Amino acid sequence: MLRIEPLSRRHDRNSFNCGKSALNDYLQKIALQHIEKGISRTFVLIDTDAPTKILGYFTLAGCEVVTRDLPAGYAGKYPAKAPVAKLARLAVSMEQQRQGLGAIMMVEAMKRTLSVAENIGIIGIFVDAKYQNAREYYEQFGFIALLEDPLELFLPLQSLIAAMEAADQ
Ligand SMILES: CC(C)(COP(=O)(O)OP(=O)(O)OC[C@H]1O[C@@H](n2cnc3c(N)ncnc32)[C@H](O)[C@@H]1OP(=O)(O)O)[C@@H](O)C(=O)NCCC(=O)NCCS
Repeated sequence: MLRIEPLSRRHDRNSFNCGKSALNDYLQKIALQHIEKGISRTFVLIDTDAPTKILGYFTLAGCEVVTRDLPAGYAGKYPAKAPVAKLARLAVSMEQQRQGLGAIMMVEAMKRTLSVAENIGIIGIFVDAKYQNAREYYEQFGFIALLEDPLELFLPLQSLIAAMEAADQ
């Protein structure tokens, strides 16, 4: 059975390979430190039959956006700066890619973000796609690229709520 849980020292971080060294390095060297310092939260997707093997991971953090950088139509709705959740990283192990695991983690990241929105208030999710192909991946979940930097994308809170309502039906 697949399960998503917080990253801990018992997970085998060193064997994880998603094909992007920056994303491997973050998981192997930085993610736990950031958890301990409260900077971000990293969750891993595992199979309960082999619970130390990391099939994929994602990282969430809080940040502030300068709202004039948001996609057209959103910039004018908010004060100059506003709080958002940031999907800082999302990666699936190379041998497990294109089997829907990225989508499972995306839905979990959205659910967790909605809970943040209900408790402290944020205007949506922000993501730095880092790579052009990842940009297309995020767009299929409703993320909208920023005009200034198309590798940075925004999912407004209303779209997040609508996506979660659709997923519940
Ligand atoms: C991008 C990534 C997280 C997607 O996860 P995944 O589990 O492979 O993707 P899913 O199975 O959930 O979805 C796959 C579908 O998304 C679509 N898609 C669009 N762009 C895609 C992309 N760059 N990679 C994978 N799928 C993509 C395809 O339609 C695909 O369906 P298909 O296999 O029927 O063609 C994963 O491939 C990965 O870790 N890549 C390397 C690291 C990376 O680039 N991370 C994102 C930057 S932070």
